[in-house]
Amino acid sequence: MLTTLAFANYRSLRSLVIPLGQLNLVTGPNGSGKSNLYRALRLLADSANGRVGAALAREGGLTSALWAGPEHISRRMCQGEVPVEGTLRRDPVALKLGFAGEDFGYAIDMGFPPPPKFPTAFALDPEIKCESIWSGPFLRSSNVLLDRRGTMARVRDGRSWRVVSDHLDRFESIFTQMADPERAPEVMRVRETIRGWRFYDHFRSDHDAPSRQAQLGTRTVVLSHDGADLAAAWQTILEIGDADSLINAVDDAFPGATVTISVSDGRFTLLFMQPGLLRPLTAMELSDGTLRYLTWIAALHTPRPPPLMVLNEPETSLHPDLLPALARLITQAASHTQMWVVSHASRLVSALEQQPACQTIMLEKDFSQTRVVGQGALDEPAWYWPER
Ligand SMILES: Nc1ncnc2c1ncn2[C@@H]1O[C@H](COP(=O)(O)OP(=O)(O)O)[C@@H](O)[C@H]1O
Ligand SMILES: [Mg+2]
Repeated sequence: MLTTLAFANYRSLRSLVIPLGQLNLVTGPNGSGKSNLYRALRLLADSANGRVGAALAREGGLTSALWAGPEHISRRMCQGEVPVEGTLRRDPVALKLGFAGEDFGYAIDMGFPPPPKFPTAFALDPEIKCESIWSGPFLRSSNVLLDRRGTMARVRDGRSWRVVSDHLDRFESIFTQMADPERAPEVMRVRETIRGWRFYDHFRSDHDAPSRQAQLGTRTVVLSHDGADLAAAWQTILEIGDADSLINAVDDAFPGATVTISVSDGRFTLLFMQPGLLRPLTAMELSDGTLRYLTWIAALHTPRPPPLMVLNEPETSLHPDLLPALARLITQAASHTQMWVVSHASRLVSALEQQPACQTIMLEKDFSQTRVVGQGALDEPAWYWPER
């Protein structure tokens, strides 16, 4: 289970350390930084998939993703006595992302490359300055397992250090360059953990959405990101997952309704029978909201629960009356999987908050920085970034 997330200088997350529970609800007013927090977590996951540079480029590059405020904010700036202005930088530009779990933690620090010696069209690519893997809840000098600085990575070997690589590419993380389990087993462990995180952001439900069409199906234990394989995933849960709970979840949201999967020539189609109709509706005929809700049911009944599931605004396109049922679905899933839910829908928020396991992370924007409401300096979990 993840216990802490930490971000620095990513958009409005100038400096944020958040403790995590089993069911985490991130909420707050518009512009408070909910989506920034979601994107920061995705970026962290991208580092394990070797896509952190590409992911940053899609966001407009490091320049856009970096905190756009001054390096230091004085009290007089906050009180409006002096204008907000940059001063000569004391520390280098550093976009930092990290997490800690019960058994290990990881952090990455990215910045701008020095002026190139040879002409390059990639002069604005971010450079990975350092990465660190440690055991325990936060980084200390005594619990570092692997330490990467620039092109060099070393691991702890008794009381000394052993260099495991001294020619790493500065634009790629250790996870893509040190995949040899013999030489650096901790890299593999952390990478596999991060790769297990599952993000659901936006299910397609438009007229041409793949989940509305008959699809060739195979056993599907993990619903795809866009929900395209909904019918196959549903049938898989019926056969090898918690079928009773799946059926109950449909009845909970749509009393009296049932879902069946028809298979013809290997093509799977979802059928929805609702009280009062003489024939079932096909996925093609379902309303956006019904189709999306069924997709959430399938995602949250996965027969292979991940270590962390991240749901971004699951309320999108759902009728508000469905939100209490969605909260029950999420709560039930949280008994197998650590959940991170970003939501702006008051009915979902209030239904989740009633759950004893729910930890609410209410964000606010204070002088353009995202902060957790009610979190004082003493409530912040201990956290140290690796030093360059
Ligand atoms: N590079 C940046 N530096 C500082 N703040 C930023 C940066 N990029 C975006 N923001 C701030 O982030 C806010 C949007 O946050 P967002 O996470 O989308 O909010 P919401 O809670 O509505 O999802 C914007 O209002 C903007 O002020
Ligand atoms: Mg948002």
